[in-house]
Amino acid sequence: MSASRVCALSALEQDTALRVEVDGVPIAVVLDSAGEVHAIGDVCTHGDISLSDGFVDGDTLECWAHGSAFSLRTGKPLNLPAYEPVPVYAVTIDGDDVLIDPTVTKEA
Ligand code: FES
Repeated sequence: MSASRVCALSALEQDTALRVEVDGVPIAVVLDSAGEVHAIGDVCTHGDISLSDGFVDGDTLECWAHGSAFSLRTGKPLNLPAYEPVPVYAVTIDGDDVLIDPTVTKEA
């Protein structure tokens, strides 16, 4: 499978997560304050909660339900109660297009 366009780069708000779906896979896309775009699995591993409804802080995305903050780089939760990582997807920027292949994950 090849990468799919999920949104325009110019449509991303800094430090705000955007929920997208690629082939049924929910993904949280984040433009961090350093201008880097990240893509991690959108479902918290502690509960069926959309991480994109949470809070971006630096290079973490915090689940609003119980406060586990997931690294946007590794997908690992940095604090309990979540202890399982979410997948991290490779992001390609092509002009103003943000492309993600949900079958390709980065090593945590
Ligand atoms: S559901 Fe995300 S930390 Fe509990």
